[in-house]
Amino acid sequence: VPEIDLLSPLTIRGVTLRNRIVMSPMCQYSAVEGMANDWHLVHLGSRAAGGVALVIVEATAVTRDGRISPGDMGIWTDDHVEPLARIARFVESQGAVPGIQLAHAGRKASCDLPWKGGARLRTPEDGAWTVVAPSPIPFHESDPTPKALDEAGIEEVVAAFDAATRRALKAGFRVIEIHAAHGYLLHEFLSPLSNHRTDQYGGSLENRMRLVLRVAERMRAIVPDSLPLFVRISATDWAEGGWDLDQSVVLAGRLKALGVDLIDVSSGALVPKAQIPVGRGYQIPLARRIRDETGILTGAVGLITDPRQADEVITGGDGDLAFIGRELLRDPYWAIKAQHDLGKEPTWPTQYGYAVKRRA
Ligand code: FNR
Repeated sequence: VPEIDLLSPLTIRGVTLRNRIVMSPMCQYSAVEGMANDWHLVHLGSRAAGGVALVIVEATAVTRDGRISPGDMGIWTDDHVEPLARIARFVESQGAVPGIQLAHAGRKASCDLPWKGGARLRTPEDGAWTVVAPSPIPFHESDPTPKALDEAGIEEVVAAFDAATRRALKAGFRVIEIHAAHGYLLHEFLSPLSNHRTDQYGGSLENRMRLVLRVAERMRAIVPDSLPLFVRISATDWAEGGWDLDQSVVLAGRLKALGVDLIDVSSGALVPKAQIPVGRGYQIPLARRIRDETGILTGAVGLITDPRQADEVITGGDGDLAFIGRELLRDPYWAIKAQHDLGKEPTWPTQYGYAVKRRA
């Protein structure tokens, strides 16, 4: 049996990834009314040309209110589909698989752009909008209090994820990822620190998992059997009394039973005061335990910067895919460099390949 490494292909359902390198979803805060534009095409397209196997479009809001900022990508109307389809077509043309992360920001919505400080927008004149959450508990004590979703509001969220999934498929995305991490709406339902509900969506683990399980089940029914469904979670809040790795293992098992194919294992960002042991590959052991205990495929992410380190994630059995974030911002050709560093002939785009190999 040949050893599986970073450069080995992986087939999930009917989709084959040419290697194990994934461009992690990264908000660009550059959309107007959620519409993808030339920035997103070039940003994502250059990583596809740069040898990444799966390019995942940033957190894309399923409702207008579910945006983190006014610059977030969105998919809450049919008009959002065509500019996204243009990106999906280009990514596909480069031999990469186009993926998209569908998201609702919950209590972390309605913020200014990060390079303008990222503070919560406060007044309608600033462009602030009403923020929803499982419970009326703000992220920062000084933030405006979010509105707790009632049953009808929850149904609207579920329906919005359904409609967004249909649009994403129409745009040509072949991997859909549910964003249930980083303190956004679905994660807020999971964690006892942000969910104080007393109805069927709060209290017990079963109740706190109910919304994400419902969303995943319905999305699985919409996504064709030939296409993968991923879920990104924060495997721990890194906070006393919060969501933790034991609960994540239970959730991952339940998601697997519903037909989710891969858990993309991130962590944190639910509460500002978390004790996070940040360091090289610090989240990798979380992916390892979920993979070992449930048998589901996992993606490892977080401070993976070096091709050999990424290769060890795969060869060591910590994860099945290596999600690369900031290192791909620093170097769009990181995946080509990884092929070179790991002793393989790099797969340059046709337009570049013959020229860069020529000596003079
Ligand atoms: C992110 N991250 C992120 N995560 C996510 O699930 N959806 C998103 O839209 C974003 N947006 C985003 C924007 C920017 C500019 C950065 C730097 C990060 C988190 C990202 O996907 C990744 O998990 C982390 O950056 C950790 O990986 P790296 O960067 O250490 O490889």
